[in-house]
Amino acid sequence: MRPSSARPIVSGAVSRRRLLGGVAGLGILGAGAGLTSCAANATDTAEQVVPFYGSRQAGITTDVQDRLAFAAFDVTATRREDLVDMLKTWTAAAEAMSRGVMVPGDSHADGVPPADTGETVGLLPARLTVTIGFGPTLFDGRFGLAPRRPTAFAALPALPGETLDPARCGGDIAVQACSDDPQVAFHAVRNLARLGRGTVVTRWTQLGFGRTSSTGTGQQTPRNLMGFKDGTRNIRSDDSATLAKSVWVGAEAGQEWMRGGSYLVARRIRMFVETWDRDVLSDQEAVFGRAKYTGAPLTGKAEFDTPDFAARTADGELTIPENAHVRLAAFEANDGLRILRRGYSFTDGIDPRTGTLDAGLFFISFQKDPAQFVTLQRKLGKHDALNEYIRHVGSALFACPQGVPDASGHWGRTLFAG
Ligand code: HEM
Repeated sequence: MRPSSARPIVSGAVSRRRLLGGVAGLGILGAGAGLTSCAANATDTAEQVVPFYGSRQAGITTDVQDRLAFAAFDVTATRREDLVDMLKTWTAAAEAMSRGVMVPGDSHADGVPPADTGETVGLLPARLTVTIGFGPTLFDGRFGLAPRRPTAFAALPALPGETLDPARCGGDIAVQACSDDPQVAFHAVRNLARLGRGTVVTRWTQLGFGRTSSTGTGQQTPRNLMGFKDGTRNIRSDDSATLAKSVWVGAEAGQEWMRGGSYLVARRIRMFVETWDRDVLSDQEAVFGRAKYTGAPLTGKAEFDTPDFAARTADGELTIPENAHVRLAAFEANDGLRILRRGYSFTDGIDPRTGTLDAGLFFISFQKDPAQFVTLQRKLGKHDALNEYIRHVGSALFACPQGVPDASGHWGRTLFAG
């Protein structure tokens, strides 16, 4: 259903939902759109907006939404100004979409392609967040950014537990769009890709259909595709001391543009679900060190009980086995090292070579230094009991800058300043 061109203007201040309500009210659109009144729409919309502007980017500690659309791009433009122009356009579009407003521009002139692709007209903002990150390759000689590369920031080293497909790795720029509505998340990435045409090409994408962690205190812990609760001991958005220590880059960045930002690690982790599904319950629980249905540590009764890593069974064995995932990953075993996990389950059909399901975890973590992830994966990739059932096949690292404070800024402002 296309808004009639007889309705000339969709201003940037009009929500997609309100637009349809208003137009339907004029009788231009037919019945069946299921629209509520404009007033009700405005209330619905406000509740579903995650503010775009702020000192930190949304989409990091924001309560994890249900769906993900992630895209990595390579810059094909050779001029710095063209890249900066695109980042300005992207920022304005991302900010509008986060409010549930159409991409700025004229979507109603008959003679030109619409400024917004249109598939979210009538949909709520659905807590959309759009988060940008810059890859280490952007800091090569092309755009004069080499002096702006933080010392902590280099491509991830080769790590145990991976067999990487280059087609699912790297990228100059990444966009993470999260929303409770899959179409809203997809629309965000699609429109940025469209607006970036001529400046960037899409290198790889990943859709995620279910969150695998919690970042909000009120959120219920979701389950991953192995059937286990995932995110129980994740960092929460109200734990500002841990966030400052482990997630947000501070003065140590040495680069103003990264202060208040964070490093995003993305790993496409394939799960061999057919093998996992043949494993007995007690072994599945030993692999994680947690009970499958309650999520409790093997030393406790309830999900949030603190694991007792020293506890032993009557025959002297460690109750949470030595190679259990949570024992190896826990901050108690890693000098207090913590990361913020924000991953999603994925499924992309069948692996044509084996006929098995191409499904797993699109792992995303945020940390103040990529070394935090590297330290953990060096250990997990060697010793984790989970390795029998998983393989890392895609990998990327991005520096997510500080937030855009207001309409006078844009995603590239501090990085390209001066
Ligand atoms: C397919 C791969 C993976 C699966 C299915 C998985 C699943 C889980 C589950 C079920 C838990 C326990 C509940 C919780 O506290 O969240 C957990 C904890 C954790 N995982 Fe993973 N994980 C995977 C990969 C990774 C990777 C690659 C890392 C980091 C390099 C990692 C880091 C952690 C950390 C830090 C914890 C918290 C441990 C604790 O403090 O108790 N995980 N994971």
